[in-house]
Amino acid sequence: MRSLDLLDPAPPAGSSGLGLGQPPGAATDWTVPQDWSCYTAEEHAVWDLLFARQQQALAGRAVADFGRGLDLLRLSHPGIPDFDELNERLFARTGWTVVAVPGLVPDDIFFDHLRKRRFPAGNFIRRRSQIDYLEEPDVFHDVFGHVPLLSNPDMAEAMQLLGERGLEALAAGVLPILSRLYWYTVEFGLSRAPGGHAIYGAGIVSSYGESLFALESPVPPLLPFDLRTVLATPYRSDAFQERYFVVEDLREVIDAVGDAGLIALCRAAADAERASAR
Ligand SMILES: [Fe+2]
Repeated sequence: MRSLDLLDPAPPAGSSGLGLGQPPGAATDWTVPQDWSCYTAEEHAVWDLLFARQQQALAGRAVADFGRGLDLLRLSHPGIPDFDELNERLFARTGWTVVAVPGLVPDDIFFDHLRKRRFPAGNFIRRRSQIDYLEEPDVFHDVFGHVPLLSNPDMAEAMQLLGERGLEALAAGVLPILSRLYWYTVEFGLSRAPGGHAIYGAGIVSSYGESLFALESPVPPLLPFDLRTVLATPYRSDAFQERYFVVEDLREVIDAVGDAGLIALCRAAADAERASAR
């Protein structure tokens, strides 16, 4: 969860998202106890409803590694995963853990967590009346959407690298450009798959409507992933995506994030936009 995440309007160029105030009771890294025992039966039931619906929607549509990673979420408790139990399984696979946060997290805090292989997840869940609408990422988006692929060694590495690159981009004033790479891969990425395309982006796999739209609708073009093109392509966070970028496989995400010239490419994209706006 971060301040540029799902359905949160992108900040203007140069914004760091540092204007968020630290929540009462949170640690300096914005983490809070998950307090799993405090979830209500209704909150667990909402998780179960969302989980069952997405399993159905994603059958044959998500990358195989996502399905394998879902086993991490089939825990001994019903409903919302207990992060302590989840982390035992996740850490054993890739060294990642999930940490609870009460809401949106400033960008510097978010990327610092990622570079330490910690994924900040909201500890709240949407209400049943908002089942298809998300004002800010909740535990279903953050855990169902992101955690399965954190068990994949390639995505585990790519996400840690994104933490490092995010801090570099923040320092260089080009985070809004780098965020496009995060957006079009981690959140809304598609991959080639036998016979067509498969979903791996967390924003799609956690959304019933978009998991159908991304693969079935003839409207959004499915473009081959190209780093320079992605960095030059703004996104919208208040509607289904107007395009998707398709990687050959998840290694292509690591290659992009690990590109030694990535921050320079972000600067060039920002310069080009400033020049064209004049
Ligand atoms: Fe997300």
